[in-house]
Amino acid sequence: MIVLGIETSCDETGVAVVQDGAVLANLLASQVDIHERFGGVVPELASRAHVEALNPLLDEALQQAGLGFGDLDGIAVTVGPGLIGALLVGIAAAKSIALATGAPLIGVNHLEGHILANAIEHGPELAPAVCLVVSGGHTMLVHMPAAHAYELLGQTVDDAAGEAFDKAAKMMGLPYPGGVAIDRAAREGDPARFHFPRAWLSRDAADFSFSGLKTALLYAVRELDEVELESRRADLAASYQRAIVRALVTRVREAAEQAGREQIAIVGGVAANSELRAALPEAAAAPLAFCTDNAAMIASAARFVEPIPYPRYLSLDAYSSR
Ligand code: KG4
Ligand code: ZN
Repeated sequence: MIVLGIETSCDETGVAVVQDGAVLANLLASQVDIHERFGGVVPELASRAHVEALNPLLDEALQQAGLGFGDLDGIAVTVGPGLIGALLVGIAAAKSIALATGAPLIGVNHLEGHILANAIEHGPELAPAVCLVVSGGHTMLVHMPAAHAYELLGQTVDDAAGEAFDKAAKMMGLPYPGGVAIDRAAREGDPARFHFPRAWLSRDAADFSFSGLKTALLYAVRELDEVELESRRADLAASYQRAIVRALVTRVREAAEQAGREQIAIVGGVAANSELRAALPEAAAAPLAFCTDNAAMIASAARFVEPIPYPRYLSLDAYSSR
């Protein structure tokens, strides 16, 4: 089964070709340059950039895979959650290709794509497991009692973990996107230099809260003049990252214990964080390129999702949250 995958939920245009779990092509057009000066993703600019990037990427991906549109057995596309305008660009392209080739369309949930990224290239079968889903838009604890069954155990009450990284990077004067920049800066810093509060609200609930942490960082940065900020930046990054990682690790271990599961998985862009990966050596985590947004995870997840035949897929719509 040869599946084309299209991912346009946020600020990365992704196109991939996957054959029975093996990745034949996995291309990404990053929009970092476009959104960098705004310090975050501008939805309308993201949609336009997807329109421009998609056709060349499709051609290149098929060429890399040594295939034509006629060889495709399914067209997988992210249908949500994400930015509606951005998602619709990918969905319109997927519908057109499905219509032209006669292949069925497969609508994939972005978060399930992240979770199933672990199965790319015949990775481990995760379930039963507890999954920490940490991206720019989501921070959730998900129990998977069986393959493709999901129960939400807890989530953030305010920012997502990736968002907490991105906003903090901006305060510290580090470039966008902030997660990678903080990860890198933290390697040179002392994580015990600054003391940041715990990133959750209640002792008992499986929740996360990053707003107090963010405020504490703001106050810490305000105390410093420009020269001090420069010399303390790595310590700030290391201390702040330590606080986030500690919350994520504590919560996911608690959740696994309560659910009686041994297997933990970390998925989503923040699962690329080196300290988080090191702090959870027992956890399943996809290779870095499959943690952050990509189309290989969407094409790969398609194996587990019911295809939509013609003409029903024509009315398929995007959703922003779910
Ligand atoms: O999954 P993803 O690529 O896109 C969404 O679905 O949101 O996640 C993007 C998020 C961003 O907030 C980015 O700063 C964060 O993942 N991220 C990281 C790292 N690499 C990406 N956060 C911490 N450490 C990293 N190495
Ligand atoms: Zn994502």
